[in-house]
Amino acid sequence: MKRSLILIAALAAPQAVFAWPWSTDMMNQPSIKPQEPVGDTAQMYPLPTLSVPVQGIPTPVANREEAKTIANPIAVSDASLKQGRNLFRIYCAACHGLTGKAESPIASKIGAIDLTDSYVQKELTEGWIFGTITFGSYVMPAYGSPAGNAEGRGSNDLTVEERWHVVNYVRNGLLKETNVKTAAANQ
Ligand code: HEC
Repeated sequence: MKRSLILIAALAAPQAVFAWPWSTDMMNQPSIKPQEPVGDTAQMYPLPTLSVPVQGIPTPVANREEAKTIANPIAVSDASLKQGRNLFRIYCAACHGLTGKAESPIASKIGAIDLTDSYVQKELTEGWIFGTITFGSYVMPAYGSPAGNAEGRGSNDLTVEERWHVVNYVRNGLLKETNVKTAAANQ
Protein backbone atom coordinates (compact mmCIF):
# COMPACT_ATOMS: atom_id res chain seq x y z
CA MET A 1 0.00 0.00 0.00
CA LYS A 2 2.71 2.38 1.08
CA ARG A 3 4.72 1.48 -2.01
CA SER A 4 1.91 2.38 -4.36
CA LEU A 5 1.53 5.73 -2.65
CA ILE A 6 5.21 6.45 -3.28
CA LEU A 7 4.71 5.43 -6.89
CA ILE A 8 1.80 7.82 -7.31
CA ALA A 9 3.82 10.61 -5.74
CA ALA A 10 6.72 9.86 -8.10
CA LEU A 11 4.43 9.94 -11.12
CA ALA A 12 2.97 13.24 -10.05
CA ALA A 13 6.41 14.77 -9.48
CA PRO A 14 7.26 15.71 -13.10
CA GLN A 15 4.29 18.07 -13.04
CA ALA A 16 5.98 20.09 -10.31
CA VAL A 17 9.23 20.15 -12.26
CA PHE A 18 7.79 22.67 -14.70
CA ALA A 19 7.39 25.10 -11.84
CA TRP A 20 11.08 25.16 -10.95
CA PRO A 21 12.93 28.32 -11.94
CA TRP A 22 15.53 26.52 -14.08
CA SER A 23 12.89 24.58 -16.05
CA THR A 24 12.42 27.22 -18.74
CA ASP A 25 11.65 26.27 -22.29
CA MET A 26 13.20 28.12 -25.24
CA MET A 27 9.81 27.98 -26.92
CA ASN A 28 8.29 30.27 -24.32
CA GLN A 29 9.51 33.68 -25.31
CA PRO A 30 7.74 37.02 -25.62
CA SER A 31 7.51 36.48 -29.41
CA ILE A 32 4.14 36.07 -31.14
CA LYS A 33 3.63 32.41 -32.14
CA PRO A 34 2.26 31.36 -35.53
CA GLN A 35 -1.52 31.86 -35.59
CA GLU A 36 -1.52 33.11 -31.98
CA PRO A 37 -4.84 34.79 -31.26
CA VAL A 38 -5.10 38.33 -29.90
CA GLY A 39 -6.22 38.06 -26.25
CA ASP A 40 -9.43 36.05 -25.90
CA THR A 41 -10.52 36.62 -29.48
CA ALA A 42 -10.29 34.07 -32.29
CA GLN A 43 -8.50 36.64 -34.50
CA MET A 44 -4.85 36.15 -35.41
CA TYR A 45 -2.42 39.05 -34.95
CA PRO A 46 -2.57 41.08 -38.13
CA LEU A 47 0.61 40.94 -40.20
CA PRO A 48 2.64 44.17 -39.89
CA THR A 49 2.19 46.56 -42.82
CA LEU A 50 4.52 45.94 -45.75
CA SER A 51 5.34 42.41 -44.58
CA VAL A 52 5.96 40.05 -47.47
CA PRO A 53 4.92 36.38 -47.38
CA VAL A 54 7.98 34.18 -46.85
CA GLN A 55 7.12 32.20 -49.94
CA GLY A 56 6.67 34.26 -53.05
CA ILE A 57 4.92 37.48 -53.95
CA PRO A 58 2.30 39.53 -52.07
CA THR A 59 -1.31 39.65 -53.29
CA PRO A 60 -1.27 42.29 -56.03
CA VAL A 61 -4.78 43.67 -55.36
CA ALA A 62 -6.75 44.96 -52.37
CA ASN A 63 -10.18 43.44 -53.06
CA ARG A 64 -12.12 41.13 -55.35
CA GLU A 65 -13.34 43.93 -57.59
CA GLU A 66 -9.74 44.95 -58.35
CA ALA A 67 -8.80 41.33 -59.00
CA LYS A 68 -11.35 41.01 -61.81
CA THR A 69 -9.04 42.23 -64.57
CA ILE A 70 -5.65 40.89 -63.48
CA ALA A 71 -4.00 38.36 -65.75
CA ASN A 72 -3.00 34.89 -64.65
CA PRO A 73 0.83 34.92 -64.42
CA ILE A 74 1.12 31.12 -64.24
CA ALA A 75 0.86 29.17 -67.47
CA VAL A 76 -1.26 26.04 -67.56
CA SER A 77 1.06 23.04 -67.39
CA ASP A 78 0.87 19.49 -66.07
CA ALA A 79 2.78 20.56 -62.96
CA SER A 80 0.46 23.51 -62.29
CA LEU A 81 -2.68 21.41 -62.84
CA LYS A 82 -1.33 18.70 -60.55
CA GLN A 83 -0.66 21.17 -57.76
CA GLY A 84 -3.99 22.91 -58.33
CA ARG A 85 -5.78 19.57 -58.16
CA ASN A 86 -4.14 18.65 -54.85
CA LEU A 87 -4.98 22.03 -53.32
CA PHE A 88 -8.54 21.90 -54.69
CA ARG A 89 -9.11 18.55 -53.02
CA ILE A 90 -7.82 19.93 -49.72
CA TYR A 91 -9.38 23.40 -49.69
CA CYS A 92 -12.38 23.44 -52.00
CA ALA A 93 -13.84 19.92 -52.26
CA ALA A 94 -15.41 19.95 -48.79
CA CYS A 95 -17.99 22.43 -50.09
CA HIS A 96 -17.86 22.25 -53.89
CA GLY A 97 -17.35 18.47 -54.10
CA LEU A 98 -14.40 16.46 -55.44
CA THR A 99 -15.74 16.84 -58.98
CA GLY A 100 -16.62 20.52 -58.44
CA LYS A 101 -20.27 19.73 -59.21
CA ALA A 102 -21.42 20.71 -55.70
CA GLU A 103 -22.05 17.06 -54.84
CA SER A 104 -20.65 17.37 -51.30
CA PRO A 105 -23.10 16.68 -48.46
CA ILE A 106 -23.12 20.31 -47.29
CA ALA A 107 -23.17 22.00 -50.71
CA SER A 108 -26.93 22.47 -50.88
CA LYS A 109 -27.14 23.54 -47.23
CA ILE A 110 -24.76 26.47 -47.65
CA GLY A 111 -25.36 27.18 -51.33
CA ALA A 112 -21.94 26.14 -52.67
CA ILE A 113 -22.26 26.38 -56.42
CA ASP A 114 -21.38 23.96 -59.24
CA LEU A 115 -17.94 25.04 -60.48
CA THR A 116 -18.23 23.09 -63.73
CA ASP A 117 -21.11 25.10 -65.20
CA SER A 118 -20.59 27.84 -67.77
CA TYR A 119 -20.93 30.64 -65.19
CA VAL A 120 -17.60 29.65 -63.58
CA GLN A 121 -16.03 28.05 -66.67
CA LYS A 122 -16.76 30.88 -69.11
CA GLU A 123 -18.41 33.99 -67.64
CA LEU A 124 -16.18 34.71 -64.64
CA THR A 125 -12.69 36.02 -65.36
CA GLU A 126 -9.72 34.07 -64.01
CA GLY A 127 -8.86 37.19 -62.01
CA TRP A 128 -12.28 37.10 -60.35
CA ILE A 129 -11.84 33.45 -59.36
CA PHE A 130 -8.39 34.36 -57.96
CA GLY A 131 -10.06 37.23 -56.08
CA THR A 132 -12.78 34.92 -54.75
CA ILE A 133 -10.17 32.52 -53.38
CA THR A 134 -8.13 35.42 -51.97
CA PHE A 135 -10.90 37.50 -50.36
CA GLY A 136 -13.75 34.98 -50.10
CA SER A 137 -17.29 35.61 -51.21
CA TYR A 138 -20.54 35.94 -49.25
CA VAL A 139 -20.43 32.56 -47.53
CA MET A 140 -17.20 31.29 -48.95
CA PRO A 141 -14.07 31.72 -46.79
CA ALA A 142 -11.00 33.78 -47.81
CA TYR A 143 -7.81 31.79 -48.36
CA GLY A 144 -5.30 34.43 -49.26
CA SER A 145 -5.77 37.40 -47.01
CA PRO A 146 -5.47 37.36 -43.22
CA ALA A 147 -7.79 40.35 -43.01
CA GLY A 148 -10.15 38.49 -45.32
CA ASN A 149 -13.36 40.06 -46.52
CA ALA A 150 -15.58 42.77 -45.07
CA GLU A 151 -16.49 40.63 -42.06
CA GLY A 152 -12.82 40.04 -41.32
CA ARG A 153 -13.04 36.32 -42.17
CA GLY A 154 -9.79 35.13 -43.66
CA SER A 155 -6.84 32.78 -43.39
CA ASN A 156 -3.48 32.97 -45.07
CA ASP A 157 -3.47 29.37 -46.22
CA LEU A 158 -2.72 29.71 -49.91
CA THR A 159 0.16 31.68 -51.40
CA VAL A 160 -0.41 33.79 -54.51
CA GLU A 161 1.12 31.07 -56.70
CA GLU A 162 -0.96 28.35 -55.09
CA ARG A 163 -4.16 30.33 -55.70
CA TRP A 164 -3.31 30.63 -59.41
CA HIS A 165 -2.62 26.88 -59.56
CA VAL A 166 -6.15 26.33 -58.16
CA VAL A 167 -7.55 28.76 -60.77
CA ASN A 168 -5.73 26.81 -63.51
CA TYR A 169 -7.19 23.55 -62.24
CA VAL A 170 -10.74 24.94 -61.88
CA ARG A 171 -10.66 26.27 -65.46
CA ASN A 172 -8.56 23.63 -67.22
CA GLY A 173 -8.67 20.42 -65.24
CA LEU A 174 -11.89 20.11 -63.32
CA LEU A 175 -14.30 19.82 -66.22
CA LYS A 176 -12.06 17.57 -68.30
CA GLU A 177 -11.61 15.20 -65.38
CA THR A 178 -15.36 15.14 -64.68
CA ASN A 179 -16.15 14.42 -68.36
CA VAL A 180 -13.65 11.56 -68.45
CA LYS A 181 -15.19 10.07 -65.31
CA THR A 182 -18.76 10.43 -66.62
CA ALA A 183 -17.79 8.85 -69.95
CA ALA A 184 -16.17 5.93 -68.14
CA ALA A 185 -19.25 5.46 -65.95
CA ASN A 186 -21.53 5.43 -69.00
CA GLN A 187 -19.60 2.69 -70.77
C1 HEC B 1 -16.95 26.54 -46.68
C2 HEC B 1 -17.42 26.19 -47.99
C3 HEC B 1 -16.63 26.59 -49.20
C4 HEC B 1 -15.32 26.30 -49.48
C5 HEC B 1 -14.35 25.49 -48.65
C6 HEC B 1 -15.05 26.88 -50.78
N1 HEC B 1 -16.16 27.51 -51.25
FE1 HEC B 1 -16.36 28.44 -53.05
N2 HEC B 1 -18.23 29.00 -52.57
C7 HEC B 1 -18.93 28.59 -51.45
C8 HEC B 1 -20.27 29.12 -51.48
C9 HEC B 1 -21.33 28.89 -50.41
C10 HEC B 1 -20.38 29.88 -52.67
C11 HEC B 1 -21.62 30.63 -53.20
C12 HEC B 1 -21.99 31.76 -52.29
C13 HEC B 1 -20.91 32.77 -52.20
O1 HEC B 1 -20.59 33.39 -53.23
O2 HEC B 1 -20.36 32.91 -51.10
C14 HEC B 1 -19.08 29.77 -53.33
C15 HEC B 1 -18.78 30.38 -54.53
C16 HEC B 1 -17.63 30.17 -55.26
C17 HEC B 1 -17.33 30.74 -56.56
C18 HEC B 1 -18.23 31.69 -57.34
C19 HEC B 1 -18.02 33.12 -56.90
C20 HEC B 1 -19.01 34.07 -57.54
O3 HEC B 1 -18.63 35.21 -57.76
O4 HEC B 1 -20.16 33.70 -57.81
C21 HEC B 1 -16.12 30.25 -56.95
C22 HEC B 1 -15.39 30.55 -58.24
C23 HEC B 1 -15.64 29.40 -55.87
N3 HEC B 1 -16.58 29.36 -54.87
C24 HEC B 1 -14.44 28.70 -55.90
C25 HEC B 1 -13.90 28.05 -54.78
C26 HEC B 1 -12.54 27.53 -54.75
C27 HEC B 1 -11.59 27.52 -55.90
C28 HEC B 1 -12.37 27.02 -53.48
C29 HEC B 1 -11.12 26.43 -52.89
C30 HEC B 1 -9.96 27.31 -52.80
C31 HEC B 1 -13.61 27.21 -52.74
N4 HEC B 1 -14.50 27.84 -53.57
C32 HEC B 1 -13.82 26.80 -51.43
C33 HEC B 1 -18.44 27.83 -50.42
C34 HEC B 1 -17.14 27.36 -50.32
